[in-house]
Amino acid sequence: MKKIIVNGGKRLSGEISVSGSKNAALPIIFACILTKGISEIENLPDIGDVKIALSLLESFGALIEREGNKTMIDTRRLRYVDPDVDLVKKIRASTYLLGACLSRFGRCPVMSFGGCNFSLRPIDMHIDAFMKLGARMDGDALVCDSPHGSVIEFRKASVGATVNAVLLAATADGETVISGCAVEPHIDSLISFLNSCGASITRHDREIRISGRSLHGGSISVIGDMIEAGSYLALSLMTDGNVRILKSPLFDMKASLDAFSSLGAKICFSDGSLYGSIDDGRYFSVTTAPYPGFPTDLQPLLAPLMAHQRGGEITDNVWPTRFGYLSSLSPFGVKSTVNDNRALIFKSEIRNGISSAPDLRGGMAALICALAAEGQSEIYSAETILRGYEGLEEKLCALGADIKIKKL
Ligand code: EPZ
Repeated sequence: MKKIIVNGGKRLSGEISVSGSKNAALPIIFACILTKGISEIENLPDIGDVKIALSLLESFGALIEREGNKTMIDTRRLRYVDPDVDLVKKIRASTYLLGACLSRFGRCPVMSFGGCNFSLRPIDMHIDAFMKLGARMDGDALVCDSPHGSVIEFRKASVGATVNAVLLAATADGETVISGCAVEPHIDSLISFLNSCGASITRHDREIRISGRSLHGGSISVIGDMIEAGSYLALSLMTDGNVRILKSPLFDMKASLDAFSSLGAKICFSDGSLYGSIDDGRYFSVTTAPYPGFPTDLQPLLAPLMAHQRGGEITDNVWPTRFGYLSSLSPFGVKSTVNDNRALIFKSEIRNGISSAPDLRGGMAALICALAAEGQSEIYSAETILRGYEGLEEKLCALGADIKIKKL
């Protein structure tokens, strides 16, 4: 267990560079299980979830070496073992073991997968897709002797189900068409990586077409993390600072930047750096939607800003119950109410306090409150934030924050 001690109230300014996207890196790491070769992944973020994903690959016999900003993953000689349940239950991305292991080994137990527990996180669409591709249940495991092409129609956009269907279909015998797929940037980066491994995958709008192939090693550079970029922009605005966010994936952030602008922020970007300021904030309502809509992962980071400005409303149509984090913001004075899938955030006096990180993005929202509030604050379960924000302490200190992360 770790805690962050914050001496807040400072106007943060300076430059930070966005790291590789957690949600793009994780599908790529598990996709290496499909390949019989050596893959080179650049810009892999050094965060908790990635470390756990790499450990799961090593348990199958993958050889992993870091050379500067490159990670070489050798999956030429893998043998099946039951995945370590203690690792699996720590991250949501361990669901990708299902598609990857069915493809490589023909079996995978359906385990209790981890991840932020702000909602029930069903995998019915994953399982339906596997069945369409030739898998069946054998006790508590999925087995698939010879995956074959199929037509898969998702009833709603699901990042995880899309990733898993692509992972099994990529090496299946024949053609697969997936309709109703998720179209987040990290889906396209997975497709690019698999195609660099010899796969034959195309996406047009919400339809993915796959012609199964056997795969060799490939290479990719992980795209920048749009949620990290949005988190630091919210922090800069919250402290009335001047943080320049380099390497922001601006093209992926249209809906996010529109939301900041509607809140009253003046958003600027020049020579690849993103920055902003707020002179006169506005009451603002935002509704989340699958990409290219406003990302659900950024809604917790807007709540402190709404409270600090003139209040606002957040409706989450992706995770209707994703408002538990508001109880972690109330020690900092954030006043809110929740009704069904909508939260009302009231204009509030932000003050220092003691809280904990309930999940990854809610934990970062609590840290933003602590950094904005005058005086000393503490946030427990800080390891939850380190799961998804690379170099958090270094980046914040570079911006003038007075923080310490302590092991308990
Ligand atoms: C991914 O989760 C992300 N996690 C989440 O980010 C993100 O919030 C989410 O996509 C939506 O963008 C990773 O990439 C590791 P979904 P995932 O399947 O794949 C329903 C973060 O903070 N659904 O797209 O689990 C589901 O209940 C994390 O980085 C089914 O009903 O999300 C939800 O309402 C938090 N049945 C909706 O679809 C299924 O079989 C979208 O979920 C699968 C999903």
